[in-house]
Amino acid sequence: MELTPTKVQMIDLSRKEDGTNSTETFARDVAAGLGQSPKSLPSRYFYDAAGSKLFQDIMALPEYYLTRCEFKVLTENRQEIARHFANSSFFHLIDLGAGDALKTKILLRELDGQQSAFDYVPVDISGDAMRQLSDSLHREMPAVHVQAVVGEYFQALEWLHAHKSERKVVLFLGSNIGNFKPDESRNFLKTICSYLDPGDKLLVGVDLRKDPDTILSAYNDAAGVTAEFNLNLLRRINRELGGDFDLSQFRHYPIYNPHEGVMRSFLVSTQAQDVYIRDTGQTFHFDAWEAIHTENSHKYSMRQVEELGKACGFGIETVFQDDACGYADVLFTVT
Ligand SMILES: C[S@@+](CC[C@H](N)C(=O)[O-])C[C@H]1O[C@@H](n2cnc3c(N)ncnc32)[C@H](O)[C@@H]1O
Repeated sequence: MELTPTKVQMIDLSRKEDGTNSTETFARDVAAGLGQSPKSLPSRYFYDAAGSKLFQDIMALPEYYLTRCEFKVLTENRQEIARHFANSSFFHLIDLGAGDALKTKILLRELDGQQSAFDYVPVDISGDAMRQLSDSLHREMPAVHVQAVVGEYFQALEWLHAHKSERKVVLFLGSNIGNFKPDESRNFLKTICSYLDPGDKLLVGVDLRKDPDTILSAYNDAAGVTAEFNLNLLRRINRELGGDFDLSQFRHYPIYNPHEGVMRSFLVSTQAQDVYIRDTGQTFHFDAWEAIHTENSHKYSMRQVEELGKACGFGIETVFQDDACGYADVLFTVT
């Protein structure tokens, strides 16, 4: 289907100003992560086309309560949320890490139905995700103006700051904030705040602390979809960087630490082995049972959320919460 250029646009920021492209950056990050001890890989590389599809499958799993819970919170509160977002002035609705925007669409339909004056700016490093989302929005909500941005969060915020002077409402849904370590989440929110003006808003999806078994199952489903998602990172390195990882010699291993409130995912090498990655020009050695740390998912208490916002220049405007689910969408305002 032909897109109407005035309603749906794509901005690609993925080529860096220093001339490096995303594959070179990927190779550099992989070499740095696998060259250190303990080994790690950045979780943002999960989302190639296959990873984005696997994440959609994860969201539909019975164990993955997060999507269902946030879906419920946004559905039950959509009118009130839309009222908080919209006032008489035009605003940009900026969705950081939008993915398939399954839950954002609840709010978009509500805002569209109320004929609010806004445009929608989804941001994601996955170009595939942004192309699919642009197509689906064009079909489902043709009246909504969409400007999809392919790029890193901060790149996109900088671009938005330079190009969009109107009021901003930023979404950071899906418990994405949990992927950052505590100091990283502070830096992230402070940086967002520095690109916003007093009165601008930020809606953050937060997974709250709960029964450790419930949390662990969400990242270790019986069907093995999360394991596939984690292993797909190695498949992506093989395909895009010429790696020779043998996926059958790595195992998905998630663990929840209730003291710190953090879920950590690893890929464990089941035997001693060497892995060559062409684009890094290096061979990486793995001892038997050596692990690569691939993801953190922090779970918060409401007190921590409030303190985090306050330390970064935000005050809580209101909290939309489902107690049974242990999930909250927290609406902050720049103070
Ligand atoms: C867990 S999904 C959440 C998707 C959606 N917001 C939701 O709530 O269902 C995370 C999304 O963030 C994107 N992402 C991860 N790291 C990113 C980064 N550094 N910059 C931009 N997007 C990123 C991924 O490509 C992926 O689509």
